[in-house]
Amino acid sequence: MATEFKLAPSILSADFSNLGYALQLCDDGGAHWIHIDVMDNQFVPNLTIGPPVVKSLRSKTNKFMDVHMMVIEPEKLVNPFARAGADLITFHIEATDDPQSVIDLIKSTGIQVGISLKPSTPLSDIEPYYDQVDLILVMSVEPGFGGQGYMEGSTARIREIKYKLNEQCLQDRVLIEVDGGIKLHNAKEVIDAGADVLVAGSAIFGSENPAKTIQDFYNL
Ligand code: DX5
Ligand code: ZN
Repeated sequence: MATEFKLAPSILSADFSNLGYALQLCDDGGAHWIHIDVMDNQFVPNLTIGPPVVKSLRSKTNKFMDVHMMVIEPEKLVNPFARAGADLITFHIEATDDPQSVIDLIKSTGIQVGISLKPSTPLSDIEPYYDQVDLILVMSVEPGFGGQGYMEGSTARIREIKYKLNEQCLQDRVLIEVDGGIKLHNAKEVIDAGADVLVAGSAIFGSENPAKTIQDFYNL
């Protein structure tokens, strides 16, 4: 049974020596989005890619590019990533003392805005912004690395966010994306809890046949 959700393969787990091929695999598999994990070795203890790489990827795909900024001072990177071709930029509530200004800045570039929170951050921290964003990114692992295990308490958090969005009649306008430890065996649970977009990195790029794994997700 095809379930209504979008898959966003995370290229963090792809072969960084051949990201063009990773995009090809996402095309072959029919993924809706590409999830691009930006890390600055400040907000998280890892360092990945910047605007020049996103610019190159943009020239090779028409897919929706979902940029997940795990960085301090996110306001400094909004314009560069928007100019590089991001379709949506997500920042972390923990990375700024003025989330409103980051939301306004992302919106001013004309692209979509997402807000994210670490597993230990209370949902109440992002609730004031539900009606201002296009997407809420629920981290189901501690951000920084692919290949971690799904944190079970995340399902209740997804359900809680969905409930609050429904209460505010925002459920059709604000997407819930879930990121971290998503596999074929837990994807249905996460979708049933209210997720609209699933990020999967190691489940896809760590598999024998990434394009087929993408199709397996859509055939859940
Ligand atoms: C972790 C990143 C995730 C990660 C997901 O900080 O935000 O997007 O790449 O990888 P998996 O699916 O392997 O947990
Ligand atoms: Zn991510």
